Amino acid sequence: MRGAVSTADTKIVADGLHFAYRSQEREPVVALTDVSFEVRAGELLCVVGPSGCGKSSLISLIAGLARPQQGRVLVNGRTVRGPGADRGVVFQELGLMPWRTVNGNIGQGLEIARVPRARRDEVVARFVAMIGLGGFEERYPHELSGGMKQRVALARTLAADPTVMLMDEPFAAVDAQTRVTLQKDLLRISMQTGKTIVLVTHSVEEAAFLGDRVMVMTRRPGRVKEIIDVPIPREERDYDALAHDEPFNALRVEITNSVRAELW
Ligand SMILES: Nc1ncnc2c1ncn2[C@@H]1O[C@H](COP(=O)(O)OP(=O)(O)O)[C@@H](O)[C@H]1O
Ligand SMILES: [Mg+2]
Repeated sequence: MRGAVSTADTKIVADGLHFAYRSQEREPVVALTDVSFEVRAGELLCVVGPSGCGKSSLISLIAGLARPQQGRVLVNGRTVRGPGADRGVVFQELGLMPWRTVNGNIGQGLEIARVPRARRDEVVARFVAMIGLGGFEERYPHELSGGMKQRVALARTLAADPTVMLMDEPFAAVDAQTRVTLQKDLLRISMQTGKTIVLVTHSVEEAAFLGDRVMVMTRRPGRVKEIIDVPIPREERDYDALAHDEPFNALRVEITNSVRAELW
């Protein structure tokens, strides 16, 4: 394996990924090339980079929704060959079932997995509480705000108990205020559940606030430009205090400049 040192503590290994979209009519579009990195167990890695640099493609490769032409992705030491229950994906388009209630949506994966009713109810109740939607269990998606729907999508993925959560611009469609609330929620929930998370965002603020590390990608074809440590333990991050924290602001500027240098 090129450059990738896998240990028991390693959840995800991306090893020399090359990925192009191919079609009969057009020249191939190389989305990613030579992409290698690792994500440790329980880590939250944020991925930033210019629009079109291959962030969503990267999520698809880890999710097993697409296959690289070169290289491979390992999750828990096993090569990814397709989608699997060990990886939960949260997209910006939430994919909630409009005809199912909050409880019905959250429990959907458990139903498919034939988890017995009593156990399912228990798990669903735990995640309803975790996302703060008590009292809304029997509501339908159209009766919920954007932020609430986003929480339901998150809870649905968590309820299926994947080892790895893949999130592609999950908060892009909500207003700024709601977005901050959701970020705080995700920070808390990520610590409560200990999930390994890869989160793609176009917001440097979000990446720095949430990530243990921030991976900056080059413009297309996307490569790993650099991976920046956020040297503040997640449990110590206070959204309002960080706004006035000099080292944190310097870090944000550093990441912003790194991304900016990749814009045409
Ligand atoms: N289905 C597709 N067919 C052809 N090209 C695609 C397809 N999906 C994405 N691309 C191209 O691949 C590149 C990377 O896309 P994407 O991974 O969506 O980037 P990002 O999420 O960083 O904005 C872009 O240039 C995009 O236009
Ligand atoms: Mg994208």
